[in-house]
Amino acid sequence: MKTQLALPITKVQNSRLAETDFSNLVFGRTISDHMFVADYKDGAWSDMRIEPYAPLSLNPANATLHYGQSIFEGMKAYRNEDGKILVFRPDANWKRLNESADRMCMPEIPEEIFMEGLTQLIDLERAWVPTAKGASLYLRPFMFATDDYIGVKPSDTYKFIILTCPVGNYYSKPVSVKVETTFTRATEGGVGAAKTAGNYAASLYPARQAQKAGYDQLLWTDGKSHSKIEESGTMNVMFKISDKLITAPVNTGTILKGITRASVIQLAKDWNEPLEEKFLTVAELEAALIDGTLEEAFGTGTAATIAHIERINVNGKDYILPKKSEDAFSNRVLAELDGIKYGQLVDEHNWIITI
Ligand code: COI
Repeated sequence: MKTQLALPITKVQNSRLAETDFSNLVFGRTISDHMFVADYKDGAWSDMRIEPYAPLSLNPANATLHYGQSIFEGMKAYRNEDGKILVFRPDANWKRLNESADRMCMPEIPEEIFMEGLTQLIDLERAWVPTAKGASLYLRPFMFATDDYIGVKPSDTYKFIILTCPVGNYYSKPVSVKVETTFTRATEGGVGAAKTAGNYAASLYPARQAQKAGYDQLLWTDGKSHSKIEESGTMNVMFKISDKLITAPVNTGTILKGITRASVIQLAKDWNEPLEEKFLTVAELEAALIDGTLEEAFGTGTAATIAHIERINVNGKDYILPKKSEDAFSNRVLAELDGIKYGQLVDEHNWIITI
């Protein structure tokens, strides 16, 4: 890839690569040697650089610590058989980051800074991209307020950082979920569509309650009536009922516009699969579980790609989903996405950039 932005690069003196156990990667625990950093002040991004991954010095009055003006993205880079590094749809993540920035009164990040920071960092960290099947380099761009000010207002200064971490599979087995009808992830007019820190903070308590009750995650319902399924944990969610794929629309402002979700929808359209973007009600979900027409349920997200759901609790009652065949839609779409991401299948939609 042509390099346009001249980035100063300060390399680590001692790489942690050799001491990293690539056979035992826990999601998010291992951060690679370097990070990309840019600072926003006086209305412009400046001081773009790559430097060693190291602690930041923050004033205790830092605005993010108090009011949570903080947004992030998640992407993955994969190693193909020729040793090239492939990144899946980074342009879509750049656009979504800026949509989150707009909602949170934060400055947009220009495409050149995002893409050059990302690709030059990956190029420097290419030895950190795992080789094992299912493993990848998770890419975490994020932006946060850096004003030292306790008053409530949008910050005038920000930091944009990209970290990378080698990761294995997010879930090692199918997940069980509970339909949540007390707590709410997002309501109309809120920030549910933004990938902002507070959404994840707000999800922790309800998720912990579900985990204590023996479930991996929640199926979030709408904040007004708790009667419509919105998302699953930190993922979008899809159901296959009587041969039709159903997923919630993303025009209410309450649901994250998932890039894996959009990719799955695109592939379903390519394959002429019956598909409807509509809210599935909790009652319809339960009826389909009872009459056996619910064939598949799965989460879609960057971290897991496809998270198969094997058990759903509705109104206190557990339902076990039918066993899936090899050619179930969720298996086929996972294989197709993996094939594209690892460079084994033709990338018809130009989703991949190669480094
Ligand atoms: C994703 O799966 O895309 C996520 O956002 C999960 C991440 C918060 C770890």
